[in-house]
Amino acid sequence: MKREVITTGDGSKTIQIMDWQEQYHSKHGAIQEAYHVFIKSGLDLFKDRELQILEIGFGTGLNAFITLIEFEKRNLQIKYTGVEAYPVSNEELEQLNYLEELKSLSRKEDFNLMHSSPWNKVVEISPNFSLLKEQKFFKEIDAVAEYDLIYFDAFGARVQPELWTVEIFQIMFNAMKNGAYLVTYAAKGSVRRAMLEVGFLVERLPGPPGKREMLRAKKQ
Ligand SMILES: C[S@@+](CC[C@H](N)C(=O)[O-])C[C@H]1O[C@@H](n2cnc3c(N)ncnc32)[C@H](O)[C@@H]1O
Repeated sequence: MKREVITTGDGSKTIQIMDWQEQYHSKHGAIQEAYHVFIKSGLDLFKDRELQILEIGFGTGLNAFITLIEFEKRNLQIKYTGVEAYPVSNEELEQLNYLEELKSLSRKEDFNLMHSSPWNKVVEISPNFSLLKEQKFFKEIDAVAEYDLIYFDAFGARVQPELWTVEIFQIMFNAMKNGAYLVTYAAKGSVRRAMLEVGFLVERLPGPPGKREMLRAKKQ
């Protein structure tokens, strides 16, 4: 499918799937959305500990990179797993402007390493931050009670309804430890009901600019 790099409302770039008119991040602001949904509503629940994070849709690596910028402030040790079936190309990566927009040019090598590191191998990106990129489909995830936090960042239910089902949320539920959280930008009633059916406790939280609500699910 044809993909194109576009500029979002906060000046940061994202990728758009032309046929679907669907973006990797909010058109209102890619960085703004990533901070609101995954850092403020997810990572901020934790401090002073080791944390296993699973990202559903590694994509451009923006969520992983922001987590890398933020984790030390919370005294965390991160083991980050990003699952992705269709990695972005080098040509697309070169057009992104996250280092500049996040004023993190000093982290250029870390960002590049996140992308150049081999798939299916744990790599130390920085002290206390390891990354495992797994190239596979979400439905192939078979982890059991491994993760403390899931960044659920699949394309929307409008274009990939099969990723917002009881079946997929059951896989997430199984992969999470008791007390773990899953955060997502989505707020649809059908998504919330699928989460409830699996056994999650679900909260509606204020969404990022341009979106009224988002969801956070907890495995009791
Ligand atoms: C909304 S984008 C993720 C954005 C990403 N978190 C970022 O910060 O750039 C959704 C991602 O899921 C991937 N994807 C779509 N369907 C998939 C599937 N069934 N299994 C694994 N990855 C999939 C896409 O290639 C895309 O990278």
